[in-house]
Amino acid sequence: MVDQVLEVLRNAPSGIILDATLGGGGHTEAILKARDDVRVIGIDRDDQALAAAGSRLAPFGDRIQLQHRAFVDLGSVLDGLGIDGLSGFLFDLGVSSPQLDHADRGFSYRVAGPLDMRMDRRQTITADQVVNGYDEAAFARLLVDNADERHARRIARAVVAQRPISDTASLAEIIRNAIPAPARRRGGHPAKRTFQAIRIEVNGELEQLADSLDEAVRRLVPGGRGAVISYHSGEDRIVKRRFDQAATGGCACPARLPCACGAVPLAVLVRRAGRVPDEAEAADNPRAASARLRTLERR
Ligand SMILES: C[S@@+](CC[C@H](N)C(=O)[O-])C[C@H]1O[C@@H](n2cnc3c(N)ncnc32)[C@H](O)[C@@H]1O
Repeated sequence: MVDQVLEVLRNAPSGIILDATLGGGGHTEAILKARDDVRVIGIDRDDQALAAAGSRLAPFGDRIQLQHRAFVDLGSVLDGLGIDGLSGFLFDLGVSSPQLDHADRGFSYRVAGPLDMRMDRRQTITADQVVNGYDEAAFARLLVDNADERHARRIARAVVAQRPISDTASLAEIIRNAIPAPARRRGGHPAKRTFQAIRIEVNGELEQLADSLDEAVRRLVPGGRGAVISYHSGEDRIVKRRFDQAATGGCACPARLPCACGAVPLAVLVRRAGRVPDEAEAADNPRAASARLRTLERR
């Protein structure tokens, strides 16, 4: 959704833009090309992503600064760089295509790889601990919480019964065999949701999001713009709640009456409903098909 993100950030004031999920640097490259009056701070917790982005963005010299951190640390990253206000921010959440494509990272149900799934390879918890260590109830719970998996109990039972599971291909096969035959033919790969749920658990993706968004919104200068792309309902719920909170200041007064509670809104929503990719982009990039973009502007 590069064009839609650019459309939002085109109207941001000049200054510093935070790319909280730099990945391979595609969005940042487009931003730096479109706006010669901005610099970008690019955060990612994946060292391989940063290396790739570093090469791609080298032509922009000191207009880009890379930070190997998690976005939950964005406040201390900005403080450390002496940066007060942001003219814009972007969170393009979740997993990147290179992470999925490299079998050795263990994110993909399509190829055999280790049960890893760590975005930050310095952390100790891996998918192996979740798959081979969680009890059946806890495993089923995370499939529901992180991926709305309808067959959570069947999958959890099969996984626990067939431990130890050694790699992603074996796990994908166990999941495929665990779900009813008609369901295997519907709704994409049978292991997609389970892999998503495990990845979210390993990387603590949902826990860090709300606080990080609040901090990014607080850091925007007046007129500064924020954009978040999410890829599943659990993420989007959090983004919507935090952006609504910023736009209402937490006001719960009846909608038809003037606010009497003294709440102070920090931002306005650029569009009330989230945007989804256009047909061409969804066809071109199947991962983008589930994307939703939410945007706001600081008052
Ligand atoms: C969808 S990709 C971003 C792609 C990027 N916009 C581009 O144009 O190449 C998401 C990236 O966010 C990173 N990421 C996910 N959660 C993170 C977090 N909590 N802190 C820092 N980086 C994170 C992942 O490692 C991944 O590289």
